[in-house]
Amino acid sequence: MKLLIINGPNLNMLGVREPDIYGTGSYRELCGLIERTARELEVEVEIFQSNHEGAIVDCIQQALGRVDGIVINPAAYTHTSVAILDALKAVAIPAVEVHLSDVDAREPFRRLSYAGMACQARYAGLGVQGYVEAMGYLKRHGG
Ligand code: DQA
Repeated sequence: MKLLIINGPNLNMLGVREPDIYGTGSYRELCGLIERTARELEVEVEIFQSNHEGAIVDCIQQALGRVDGIVINPAAYTHTSVAILDALKAVAIPAVEVHLSDVDAREPFRRLSYAGMACQARYAGLGVQGYVEAMGYLKRHGG
């Protein structure tokens, strides 16, 4: 089984950006956690991060036929991107949405998730543990 982890804009700034909301751990540390989790679950993993909507759409399209599950934190594009929603629907790969923060408890505009409409499950407000939970979910239910 192969999982693809997609992280959207500004997540490369983890540890620096709003640590009171997103925590003090770095993006590198998050990638390390994802890789350790993949080893424990005995799955292959590929990690992608981009600040560009089109690059995320390209990444989802290129996953077709190559991966069995997608964990996606679209970051700010969660709340704006019909293009990412359509890409997830187009490839129809089992997908799970992750947010470090509890998006439902923040500004009202964060309550709408386009990408979430194409996802089987959502983990929000658990910090980086959300990625671990999402990968476990896909191992149990995916491809
Ligand atoms: C986020 C929540 C989004 O609303 C925000 O734009 C992000 C990160 C999270 O992981 O909590 O950049 O997806």
